[in-house]
Amino acid sequence: MAIEQSDGSRTGTPPVAQPRGSLDPEERRAALDEIAAEVRVCTRCRLWETRTNAVPGEGHADTEVVFVGEGPGQNEDVQGRPFVGAAGTFLTELVRSVGWRREEVFITNVVKCRPPGNRDPEPDEMSSCAPYLKRQLAVLDPALVVTLGRFSLQTFMPGARIGAVHGTVRAAEPTAGAAHAHAYAMYHPAAAFRQQALRETLQVDVTGIPAALESARRARPSEQAPERMKPEPATHVPATADHVTRTPEPLENPVPETPRKDAHATASPITEMSDDQMSLFR
Ligand code: URA
Ligand code: SF4
Repeated sequence: MAIEQSDGSRTGTPPVAQPRGSLDPEERRAALDEIAAEVRVCTRCRLWETRTNAVPGEGHADTEVVFVGEGPGQNEDVQGRPFVGAAGTFLTELVRSVGWRREEVFITNVVKCRPPGNRDPEPDEMSSCAPYLKRQLAVLDPALVVTLGRFSLQTFMPGARIGAVHGTVRAAEPTAGAAHAHAYAMYHPAAAFRQQALRETLQVDVTGIPAALESARRARPSEQAPERMKPEPATHVPATADHVTRTPEPLENPVPETPRKDAHATASPITEMSDDQMSLFR
């Protein structure tokens, strides 16, 4: 269910935007690597005793979209990477279906070590591990967090019921670490293996993510926006200024090309599911 963009572009809303916030890309990558190094040797909760590898998470350091799952399964524990088993293959497919690549988002989990036998993570395990997710989110400063499954949902939308909120977006719980983010609720991709109908629900819900990202971007505090919105200096500088070395263009091209990351935003209004659409999935 790939989405064809009418302008022929790969997607109307790429998840990676630059420049972003106060860290430059190298600093952001280094900060994420530092957190990952700490996670790999962490012994803060009992899950370290049974893990093969901790799974810090992976993805683009400059992305605006972070997917947060529950905790590593067996394949993830063996490889030390998130979502690399069957649920991961499906998640990768879902990401592709909106025209994005897995490498362009960041993927991590509420707990970074596998709960034995894939049991649910315990509350004390989640609270021991929460500082790592918070720090990752502080570094990434995403506009949108996509929650996968109920433990992630409870972290970013406390009290919400997945059957009621999947496919919808709201301000993320600030104490979870992504202070200026919106959260978009999805079922866990593994749910598709238990119930065929949920596969389709996931396929529909994922299509709402680009619009959720656009609305999340617009809702960010204004001091974070100017970098992206700033016009090229050439639009303001008179042609006589000392540092303008090129011959001024004749007037047939009075408006210089000013790349705007979000120029497409006006062309695609926020699409939220109607109650009728939603009722199909309750
Ligand atoms: N399920 C999760 O919640 N996370 C993973 O990384 C893999 C499967
Ligand atoms: Fe540390 Fe988190 Fe692993 Fe527990 S689950 S040992 S807190 S990294």
